[in-house]
Amino acid sequence: MSARKTFQYYRQYQMSDMFAMVRNSRRAPKECSDRLDGRLVVITGATSGIGYSTALKFAAQGANLLCINRNGEKSEQLRREVESRFSVKCDFLLADLSSLQDIHRVAMELASHNAPIDVLIHNAGVYLTEQEITPDGLDKVFVVHYLSSFIINHALMEKLKGQDSGRIILVSSEGHRFAAWGLRLDDVNWEKRRYSGLRSYGAAKTSQLLSMLMFADHFRGSAVTINAVHPGAVKTETGQENGPLYRWWKKNVYDPALKTPDMSAEALYYCGASRELEGVTGRFFNLTTEEKPAPPARDRELALALWEKSLELSGLDTADHARQYPNNISLVP
Ligand SMILES: NC(=O)c1ccc[n+]([C@@H]2O[C@H](COP(=O)([O-])OP(=O)(O)OC[C@H]3O[C@@H](n4cnc5c(N)ncnc54)[C@H](OP(=O)(O)O)[C@@H]3O)[C@@H](O)[C@H]2O)c1
Repeated sequence: MSARKTFQYYRQYQMSDMFAMVRNSRRAPKECSDRLDGRLVVITGATSGIGYSTALKFAAQGANLLCINRNGEKSEQLRREVESRFSVKCDFLLADLSSLQDIHRVAMELASHNAPIDVLIHNAGVYLTEQEITPDGLDKVFVVHYLSSFIINHALMEKLKGQDSGRIILVSSEGHRFAAWGLRLDDVNWEKRRYSGLRSYGAAKTSQLLSMLMFADHFRGSAVTINAVHPGAVKTETGQENGPLYRWWKKNVYDPALKTPDMSAEALYYCGASRELEGVTGRFFNLTTEEKPAPPARDRELALALWEKSLELSGLDTADHARQYPNNISLVP
């Protein structure tokens, strides 16, 4: 991180923002009673935790589901449960969202889906205390949390812009604040710095927030909005891939203080369905309260650089991009 950026962020940090975050975290999410009968909701990582609760919440409100999961057995189980409890469809596509090949395949399948996608929720995530490098040579946390959502949104831009409405929700996290001094785009794989679970998570979630600024600009003038939601600190299966010490700590120390993912589902439903948020885009919500993200996640210069880097890492080179999207994205000053 350059001294210029460090100084820039340092000047932007304010204690009042931290107090606001603490206050907002204590607020119960707003509830929304508007139904989504017959609408299509796409959710990634719906087989567990927040994604699972959110799938049930949207289904209970009449939405048909298309889930993007990695586990076929759990997906079948989810389908059976949803379709037996609610009068909706629950389809799924299987994809490992740490694999570029799978992400591109599923992105294309969604782009050619014949029905409009009313709500798209990027929820899948992983927390790793020890770094994993994917077969594509990339940091796994970065790919699952960020690059998968970037590639899917990118592939869906034209489809979504042709719709009468559409909401993209990024399941974000207050953990983006762990990337306190920004991103190192010359070291997304942590080869030049010490990896830690929190730093990698923070960088991936910050990347997601930066891409939100770019996509919001791109979708301006259309009926599509994109927002990010911190879903609360809730008890889920996250971190189960980590070692016994971490799992012991999570089960005995961390989990008992957490709420249930029903709270997250309520917040995500509000952000996906509430009329109060019509036209609202490019914002970060702590549950359902709008909040200012950390300075690096508001850095538009970094957002543009990350966009270029993401095109390169995704194999969506600039020439392809220009051919596919002749009205190139622009940054709002
Ligand atoms: N829990 C919290 O307190 C909290 C706080 C802030 C933000 N979040 C965010 O909430 C989101 C959901 O996390 P969670 O807490 O609900 O965790 P979780 O219970 O572990 O659920 C994660 C979901 O993502 C799926 N997934 C993981 N890796 C995947 C991959 N490579 N390909 C496809 N799907 C994959 C999992 O599939 P399997 O079922 O097959 O494992 C599961 O469905 C994450 O983005 C997380 O960062 C959580």
